Amino acid sequence: MTLTRRLALAAALAAPFAAAPAMAQTQITVQHALPANSHTGVGASTFAEAFQRLTNNRYRVVAQRNDNEREMIESVQIGTIDCTFTSTGPVGNFVPEVRIFDVPFLFRDATHARGVLDGEIGQQVLARFPARGLVGVIWIENGFRNLTNSRREVNTPADVRGLKIRTMENQVHMRAFTQLGALPTPMAFSELVPALQQGTVDGQENPISVIVANNLNQVQRFMTLTRHVYSPQVMICNPAMVGRLNAADRALFQQAAREAQTANRARVTADDEAGVAELRRRGMTVITEVDTAAFQAALAPAFAEWERTLDAATLRRIRDWR
Ligand code: PAF
Repeated sequence: MTLTRRLALAAALAAPFAAAPAMAQTQITVQHALPANSHTGVGASTFAEAFQRLTNNRYRVVAQRNDNEREMIESVQIGTIDCTFTSTGPVGNFVPEVRIFDVPFLFRDATHARGVLDGEIGQQVLARFPARGLVGVIWIENGFRNLTNSRREVNTPADVRGLKIRTMENQVHMRAFTQLGALPTPMAFSELVPALQQGTVDGQENPISVIVANNLNQVQRFMTLTRHVYSPQVMICNPAMVGRLNAADRALFQQAAREAQTANRARVTADDEAGVAELRRRGMTVITEVDTAAFQAALAPAFAEWERTLDAATLRRIRDWR
């Protein structure tokens, strides 16, 4: 073979490799507040796996932990991270319409909450996010919140009086605990364990899923199944990032978010079923018999205030939802 033919053959063999473009992968960062082995961690990893699979790995989704939810929302707003899975705790400070979902004893059970959030009312509230520089993608959840403390058994609303309770940075929740005679202390979740250890606060409130995943039994003795408020989570993304997805990828993004929602809710249901026994096994005293009507009666003045300050018509629609 002549030198010219040998060079031509070598060029022909190399051509496919030289011409093949490196596979472009766009990275999307999703932050959430809880351990990988939790309802939120499972939601985030399901989203990551699903979106990567559905787009044949054109996207790489990186899930990260950050237990300051307000900080995550601010980062999404300015675009230093792409998305967050956050409770609605601090979201009302960005999108005030979300606050209706933080009203205690609004939802009867998970079916009610999930139905409202996935239906017209929940979607109307998600539609308010873009005006605040955010995209509300889908509702996921923490589940129903319960009260824990290290001072005493809480059996009645009167037992709450005088307790220093860490709440989320959420004015609806703070108003509720003030009404019960507690001293609500708002702080980010990242500050909670040191505050409980140092006695800055006596107690906190969170769903079983959070209490189990974060071993809060190590810093709290008593839990009462108050189920005083449903705690939604919402996937929020940066509008510019969502805008860069073409229509087909946006549909896949939404499909991946739905898969995350299914996985997250299944885990919350499972945690709720197994959680009481698990927390008792870990040494907590768990009070399961709760006079819900007594707690609701104690909150009556706060309910009257929310009727005036929040969207009363939507609150009624939510209560009437069947
Ligand atoms: O208590 C909170 O701040 C939230 O419930 C948490 C644990 C960060 C999960 O969204």
